[in-house]
Amino acid sequence: MEVKARVVGQVLHIIRQFMLNRRTVLVSVFCVILLVLWQSTFLLTDIDSTHFLKASRFDTGAKNMKSKPHIVFILADDYGWNDIGYHGSFIQTPNLDRLASEGVKLENYYVQPICSPSREQLMTGRYQIRYGLQHSVITDDRPHGLPLDEVTLPQKLKDNDYSTYLVGKWHLGFFRKEYLPSRRGFDKFYGFLTGGEDYWSHRRPNMYSQDASEYHGLDLRDQDNPVLDQNGTYSTHLFARKATEIISQHDQDKPMFLYLSFQAVHAPLQAPDKYVERYRNLKNTAVQKYSAMVTAMDEAVGNVTIALRDNGLWDNTVLIFSTDNGARRSAGSNWPLRGWKNTLWEGGIRGVCFVTSELLEKKGTTSEALIHISDWFPTLVRLARGSTQDTKPLDGFDVWNSIRYNSYPSFC
Ligand SMILES: *[C@@H]1O[C@H](CO)[C@@H](O)[C@H](O)[C@H]1NC(C)=O
Ligand SMILES: *[C@@H]1O[C@H](CO)[C@@H](O)[C@H](O)[C@H]1NC(C)=O
Repeated sequence: MEVKARVVGQVLHIIRQFMLNRRTVLVSVFCVILLVLWQSTFLLTDIDSTHFLKASRFDTGAKNMKSKPHIVFILADDYGWNDIGYHGSFIQTPNLDRLASEGVKLENYYVQPICSPSREQLMTGRYQIRYGLQHSVITDDRPHGLPLDEVTLPQKLKDNDYSTYLVGKWHLGFFRKEYLPSRRGFDKFYGFLTGGEDYWSHRRPNMYSQDASEYHGLDLRDQDNPVLDQNGTYSTHLFARKATEIISQHDQDKPMFLYLSFQAVHAPLQAPDKYVERYRNLKNTAVQKYSAMVTAMDEAVGNVTIALRDNGLWDNTVLIFSTDNGARRSAGSNWPLRGWKNTLWEGGIRGVCFVTSELLEKKGTTSEALIHISDWFPTLVRLARGSTQDTKPLDGFDVWNSIRYNSYPSFC
């Protein structure tokens, strides 16, 4: 106490001495005027700087606060809990393992047990029971889709200056043009609209026919137009190539939202021989093929991250890798979780997920926080410095701080 008082006394004494000197006072006043002038021009000429001051309260961790982070959301289809190297799988997933080990693994992450409902929640931040899509996936022949009055994630990101791209599977309705991804917030769409199809011909069999060859409809589109010249290109390679093209053509001054929604590793079990070769020692041919599909997808993710680095986007990117539901019974594994895709057991609804980004504070960690696929909508809209005030009531929560600091979301 005494020491403190003495220090304060000394400081006051110096200030008094200083102020007594008239010349010093004049110089100080002059300096203050200069400072005020400089501040006001700074505020007038650079509107972003006021934005900066306001935004700093919501500091996302972006190094340059003027640039919003790029968001790359990679969704795997029917990918099992145990089918990734870091959960102990024999399947080779070196790229996913490396990315996860540099990021935060979300080990208490939940999704819906089937495809369309998970995708709907990702797109809206709202449970599908709110808009009547809780029963099943969106089948090809039914006139329904994600209701048009729902605000989608790409729409919100677009409102906040993002370029928005969907490569791969949509599966949220196509019975009228208004339901197509190009009308739901995506600047660019390259992919397919239904639930699954042949990986090479991109044709979908008639689900109601006994004879699978009876009717095959092509389901591969560039914007709204059919793509006729990719028969024979394996979809994992095709979508990886499209994603890397988009990344290399993207205008670097704009923030990017890339939703890369793989067909892999949904049925049918199809993979190029090159990848199947690696699993020749396995007895079960279904498991051989499934493993090969996973390894091809892993390579595709590796290629996309290389493109992000090569094009200078990586340091300001938030990459999220997630499955849409657990593995189905035929070939994948959800061990040690019980159940499969289509079930409400953990094996159906607890999903593989990790986040990798230079913007994370606790890299290389595992998070036990309870996080749900519906949380991405508010989380990513806020990362884009947007507002969720004008949406319908959300079920998801902003979990960015929980992920970034790897702490429980006590201060969301
Ligand atoms: C796609 O390619 C396969 C293999 O070359 C061929 O058998 C098939 O007829 C082609 N399908 C179409 C619609 O061109
Ligand atoms: C990844 O890129 C390499 C090199 O361009 C290419 O040979 C390979 O087919 C790509 N893999 C996938 C899955 O797209």
